[in-house]
Amino acid sequence: MNAITRLAAVVSLASFMPLTALAAEAKGSVEVLHWWTSGGEAAAVNTLKQQVEKDGFTWKDNAVAGGGGAAAMTVLKSRAVAGNPPAASQIKGPDIQEWGALGLLAELDEVAKANQWDALLPAKLTPIWKYDDHYVAVPVNIHRVNWLWVNPVVFEKAGAKVPHTLDELFVAADKLKAAGFQPLAHGGQPWQDSTVFESLVLSILGPEGYHKAFVELDEQTLTGDKMVQTFKTLQRLGTYMDANRAGRDWNIAAADVINGKAGMQIMGDWAKSEWTAAHKVAGKDYQCVPFPGTQGSFTYNIDSLAMFKLKNEHDIEAQNDLAKVALEPAFQTAFNQAKGSLPVRQGMDMTPFDACTQQSQKDFQEAEKGQGLQPSMAHNMASSLAVQGAIFDVVTNFLNDPKADPAKAAKQLGAAIKAAQ
Ligand code: BGC
Repeated sequence: MNAITRLAAVVSLASFMPLTALAAEAKGSVEVLHWWTSGGEAAAVNTLKQQVEKDGFTWKDNAVAGGGGAAAMTVLKSRAVAGNPPAASQIKGPDIQEWGALGLLAELDEVAKANQWDALLPAKLTPIWKYDDHYVAVPVNIHRVNWLWVNPVVFEKAGAKVPHTLDELFVAADKLKAAGFQPLAHGGQPWQDSTVFESLVLSILGPEGYHKAFVELDEQTLTGDKMVQTFKTLQRLGTYMDANRAGRDWNIAAADVINGKAGMQIMGDWAKSEWTAAHKVAGKDYQCVPFPGTQGSFTYNIDSLAMFKLKNEHDIEAQNDLAKVALEPAFQTAFNQAKGSLPVRQGMDMTPFDACTQQSQKDFQEAEKGQGLQPSMAHNMASSLAVQGAIFDVVTNFLNDPKADPAKAAKQLGAAIKAAQ
């Protein structure tokens, strides 16, 4: 090659390179803010990334560690204040409405219509993803919160039986304790404390009482005898938790049950993602049972991606692609198998799912017929973040003080919620 042809080659290469770069750019990118950072959660979010990349778009990952999402929501707020929100963000229930009211969310009606979202999503729940009657968010799953996770090997060693009532739960916990195991694996973080608390409320007050407490915020229910009993029971449960639990992440607590150090964990079914990531099989290596006394009820926690208004048309295409693939059957199967949740798309073939998810599906359908289907308070599905924060404070302060007075806690709960409204 002489000097001229060499130069020509370099020039043509140089002009070719930006073109390819431009072509990739032309396909647009989508930045997704989420808090799926544990091993199992990361495997799940990776299935979404793969789908978007398969369609030729660029995925920009913005993972903010912190179970329950409080840290991620703080990042989202500062990004929004700076006028630079991500294309998509994990946002829950009533919060979607608050972001919609700020005028920051993009309307997804075209994608929703073309892909028949109204027919695919559970009819009772569609208002969650609509603001002012327009879709502004796409759900990816349905988590159930009222679960108890059990290591059967530990139970057998301790001679304990899987509990179905609160009394049986304490009998099992005593056996586990006597055999030298940590009965309850738990992480001392406000959202985890309240995850346990809400399942206790469901068990002791029933779904109607749960609704009155966390959806209607009814003062009599919040301060009544049954709430006092719930705090008493929470205090008793606390004695079976590790005293060094402060600040422990939920997946570390899950690992204690997986590794046979602890017997049980009270946690939503994202806990299953850790069992799956550890190659454990539902019904064989571990058991899932509805939290004792809550059979027939289903506290739901739905992960949704709300979409923010964008200017760049290529990025809008990428955003629409994300919204579209999120409800496609292949993604719904792969993601929810990894995540531990139910597909939110209705009418799916459930045969690829494990025993826990199949049970969850039956229980969801049963609960949907009556009062049993209730939004999770601890996972931002029931109330505003202000009300939720007030509940978290009362519950965590109570659980951290073994001498706290249950009757006083119930009164504080009523007063704190009133002040937060
Ligand atoms: C989210 C789950 C997540 C869990 C732990 C919940 O609020 O809905 O998707 O796995 O928090 O971070």
